[in-house]
Amino acid sequence: MPVSIKTPEEIVSMRIAGRLAAEVLEMIEPHVVAGVSTGELDRICHQHIVDVQQAIPAPLNYNGFPKSICTSINHVVCHGIPSDGKVLKSGDIINIDITVIKDGFHGDTSKMFIIGEAPPHAIKLVRITQECLYKAIGIVRPGTHLGDIGHVIQTHAEANHYSVVREYCGHGIGRIFHEDPQVLHYGKPGTGMELAEGMTFTIEPMINAGSWQTRLSRSDGWTVTTRDRRLSAQYEHTLAVTSDGCEVLTLRREESL
Ligand code: MF3
Ligand code: CO
Ligand code: CO
Repeated sequence: MPVSIKTPEEIVSMRIAGRLAAEVLEMIEPHVVAGVSTGELDRICHQHIVDVQQAIPAPLNYNGFPKSICTSINHVVCHGIPSDGKVLKSGDIINIDITVIKDGFHGDTSKMFIIGEAPPHAIKLVRITQECLYKAIGIVRPGTHLGDIGHVIQTHAEANHYSVVREYCGHGIGRIFHEDPQVLHYGKPGTGMELAEGMTFTIEPMINAGSWQTRLSRSDGWTVTTRDRRLSAQYEHTLAVTSDGCEVLTLRREESL
């Protein structure tokens, strides 16, 4: 499929959906503490999205996904399924990934939370992963190549002796949750498609402390883990390309970009 260019009116709708997704991450923060289960976090987010935002949690029933958010703890790379049996403990790192649909448009964003006292190596992985996303956002403008985005992420991750997950990538987004283009988090400068004003897509690097290889759970068909069972971290924003840069549609109040 060709890459869609959103009209200014469609960008207005994307801005609303993006703000709602960001607001779920702001809302959930005080609940993300030792002793809470990921099943409980899912229920709180689901209720907020449906009752307060009058929006739709996009993951629920998406290709059969059973819950409304993704919760990926420690060596889980992405697509962790919330459950009442998974209780957060001090030292855990967790990614919470929120996608909402409002008036037919998607907003998709995720961030890491550090529970209690985590070891310095875990805190550093989380920080470097966020820096990878921010460095990539910093070069998004018309004329940037997709390979440039992958390159800045890969360079920063590997400079810190981390690796970039290959099998999962960012994506175009709009009325469709996952549309073209695929936004790889590794690559070579000057390669791949050139960005143009009106494109909307996510950047969502998954960075591993050890090797980049992943494993898909054979029992639930969703949970992706690191093969070596070392830690993985991820941050995600939804962006719109503007005439001279980009707008972060899922920016949180704690962020200044
Ligand atoms: N939110 C994820 C992404 O960033 C996709 C989750 S799909 C699900 O693209 F089915 F696992 F929810
Ligand atoms: Co996404
Ligand atoms: Co997401």
